[in-house]
Amino acid sequence: MKVAILGTGVVGQALARGFLGLQDEVAIGTRDPASDSARKVADEVPGARVVPFAEAARTCELAVLATAWSGTESALELAGPANLAGKVLIDATNPLDFSGGVPPKLAVGHTTSAGELVQAWAPAARVVKAFNIVPAPLMVNPELKGGPPTMFIAGNDAAAREAVADILHRFGWESIDLGGIEQSRLLEPLAMVFITYAFKFNHWKAAFKLLRA
Ligand SMILES: NC(=O)c1ccc[n+]([C@@H]2O[C@H](COP(=O)([O-])OP(=O)(O)OC[C@H]3O[C@@H](n4cnc5c(N)ncnc54)[C@H](OP(=O)(O)O)[C@@H]3O)[C@@H](O)[C@H]2O)c1
Repeated sequence: MKVAILGTGVVGQALARGFLGLQDEVAIGTRDPASDSARKVADEVPGARVVPFAEAARTCELAVLATAWSGTESALELAGPANLAGKVLIDATNPLDFSGGVPPKLAVGHTTSAGELVQAWAPAARVVKAFNIVPAPLMVNPELKGGPPTMFIAGNDAAAREAVADILHRFGWESIDLGGIEQSRLLEPLAMVFITYAFKFNHWKAAFKLLRA
């Protein structure tokens, strides 16, 4: 499968390595592939091409959105929403506002969510919220004392949610399908639990698990 990772940060790099490990073809999208930071990412993720957002989006079969919230709408504009039409778009973003320092606060919530805004900015893409509730180092093949953690997912297209559940399974996760993209209103505040915990205890390798009777 041809996968576009829209974002060069730690999330984009972790998921790029994960898809490469599944033998997928990976293009990492960025604003300027010639920048020092983009060239460093190309060196650190061998096997992936680092290309402009639009090229990654145009040539992929599935995309992952892993951009800073403040730049997410702009990154989608650069990627070209038409290039993502009909494609699964995994939204790993959290709408974080760092203007008051750390830990950050949510920039939107309760009445909307990043997931819903991403779906509105890329209306023909099949957006699935996933990976936002866990730190980047655990996104692929998390090895934790309590066994496989739980990833909650949300999106409007059932087949897209199933495709993402399959990827999660191959990345070593249990997944739980919560339904429509508006469930991102729950998943983004849930991310604040791990973010607040991580900053407070300086512990960045923890994930949620749903325990059942
Ligand atoms: N860090 C984590 O452990 C973690 C865990 C779960 C979810 N998340 C969420 O995942 C997303 C990515 O996080 P991250 O830490 O990997 O990376 P990040 O530093 O938050 O974002 C880096 C990416 O954002 C792009 N970007 C920034 N400003 C932009 C603008 N004005 N226009 C277009 N693109 C812009 C950058 O483009 P260039 O490549 O051109 O510089 C880069 O590709 C965030 O929404 C974050 O909240 C993070």
